[in-house]
Amino acid sequence: MVFFSVFPVALLALSTVHAVPASQGAVCSDGTAVPDEMCCDFIPLAQALNTKFDNECGETAHEVLRLSFHDAIAFSQSQGPAAGGGADGSMLVFPNVEPNFVANLGISDSVNDLLPFLSSGQFPNITAGDLIQFGAAVAVGLCPGAPQLEFLAGRPNATAPAIDGLIPVPEDSVDQILARFADANNFTAEDVVSLLVSHTVARADHVDPAVPAAPFDSTPFTFDTQFFLETLLAGVGFPGPLNGSAAFAAGEVESPLPLTEAPNSGELRLQSDFVLARDNRTACFWQGMINQEELMAAKFKAAMSQMAIIGHNRADLIDCSAVVPKPVPALNKPATYPATKSFTDIQQACPSPFPSLSTDPGAVETIIPDCPDNQTTCSS
Ligand code: HEM
Ligand SMILES: *[C@@H]1O[C@H](CO)[C@@H](O)[C@H](O)[C@H]1NC(C)=O
Ligand SMILES: *[C@@H]1O[C@H](CO)[C@@H](O)[C@H](O)[C@H]1NC(C)=O
Ligand SMILES: *[C@@H]1O[C@H](CO)[C@@H](O)[C@H](O)[C@H]1NC(C)=O
Ligand SMILES: *[C@@H]1O[C@H](CO)[C@@H](O)[C@H](O)[C@H]1NC(C)=O
Ligand SMILES: *[C@@H]1O[C@H](CO)[C@@H](O)[C@H](O)[C@H]1NC(C)=O
Ligand SMILES: *[C@@H]1O[C@H](CO)[C@@H](O)[C@H](O)[C@H]1NC(C)=O
Repeated sequence: MVFFSVFPVALLALSTVHAVPASQGAVCSDGTAVPDEMCCDFIPLAQALNTKFDNECGETAHEVLRLSFHDAIAFSQSQGPAAGGGADGSMLVFPNVEPNFVANLGISDSVNDLLPFLSSGQFPNITAGDLIQFGAAVAVGLCPGAPQLEFLAGRPNATAPAIDGLIPVPEDSVDQILARFADANNFTAEDVVSLLVSHTVARADHVDPAVPAAPFDSTPFTFDTQFFLETLLAGVGFPGPLNGSAAFAAGEVESPLPLTEAPNSGELRLQSDFVLARDNRTACFWQGMINQEELMAAKFKAAMSQMAIIGHNRADLIDCSAVVPKPVPALNKPATYPATKSFTDIQQACPSPFPSLSTDPGAVETIIPDCPDNQTTCSS
């Protein structure tokens, strides 16, 4: 070939490499090595998000994690691409559509927290879908015990909102929940439990509107396994102004720790978490999470990697995991029964031996702090 007779092979190889920057990688200004320069934009974004979250595993961080699920799960293999684009940022691109669906009650807080990052002009190349999934990775990293999530960049902006009816609600049966997750992304029963690890850092504001910030376990600011233990304790009442009496909302069942001393709300139990903890398709995997914080973090990370790219091909995206901030360290505190509880309160649904755990000291039911820093008013 004329070409080869003119240019030495070594020179050709060199020029070829230069023509494909993605395979070369890049180094961001802070020294982080990344596969592509586009990853570098997420470094200042992480700083801005951490500021937004007050560097705490508090309400704002929790809500962005929930948003990552509600954006991504809006995809249906049976109904086709017109039903929703998955993790496409449609929640932010069409902030007046999906956030108004009943299953998304409360999601507008997180939408309003993230929208300024899209419109400020400071991050012009970051799309809505990337912002949401990256935001969740930054948020969860503030919760002691959480894994450093994978983050792939390059989701195109949503072109249409998703239809109503794709977000699970706590009134759903196990059959309905498993079917919805399978339709969205072939998620298995174990994947569903792995994603529900998120409820270890979660509280409800809208299930019972009379009870704001009602936590799903006694440690809502820690990415520990208490959620899997406490959802198996026998329910004794409902949190709220009526202090453990009969007031409850749709999708809510009796919790084991309802004692409320405002502003500290007692624990609230979702019916969906209750039935998944006890169904024979999920019970053993559920029980197996108890006191296994590293396993739990690893399962969550793997399932989140799948969830975060629903509606996209992995091969079309760029691995920017190197710019996900390193999570805060784990507390490494073993799981314990909250004060006054023990194995006799467990409603075991899996035949495997139950882990042996101690009980926190104290003669009265645990009061769960409302603020991550145990102050009386919370900043985030
Ligand atoms: C069966 C599936 C699920 C159901 C029925 C469900 C339901 C709920 C409900 C009703 C709330 C309370 C919202 C409020 O009243 O403010 C909530 C909170 C939350 N959910 Fe889920 N959820 C499910 C799965 C997931 C998944 C897969 C994730 C993430 C991967 C997630 C993350 C969260 C988070 C972080 C919160 C707390 C938000 C906050 O503290 O403000 N959920 N969920
Ligand atoms: C994505 O959509 C948002 C909201 O409409 C817009 O502000 C942003 O410029 C778009 N980003 C890109 C990269 O197209
Ligand atoms: C956005 O992308 C364009 C085109 O690739 C690039 O020229 C520009 O520097 C990028 N902007 C930022 C803030 O990264
Ligand atoms: C789900 O499984 C079906 C059948 O094996 C397959 O055709 C489809 O591509 C899978 N979908 C996803 C998102 O993996
Ligand atoms: C709630 O009920 C418990 C147990 O009956 C009681 O000890 C506690 O004082 C009550 N708290 C409030 C705020 O009424
Ligand atoms: C769960 O229980 C149902 C009904 O008792 C039974 O038909 C099914 O085979 C069981 N499944 C598993 C995985 O054990
Ligand atoms: C939180 O504050 C209360 C009241 O000041 C105190 O009794 C409790 O021990 C504190 N809890 C933690 C975890 O610091």
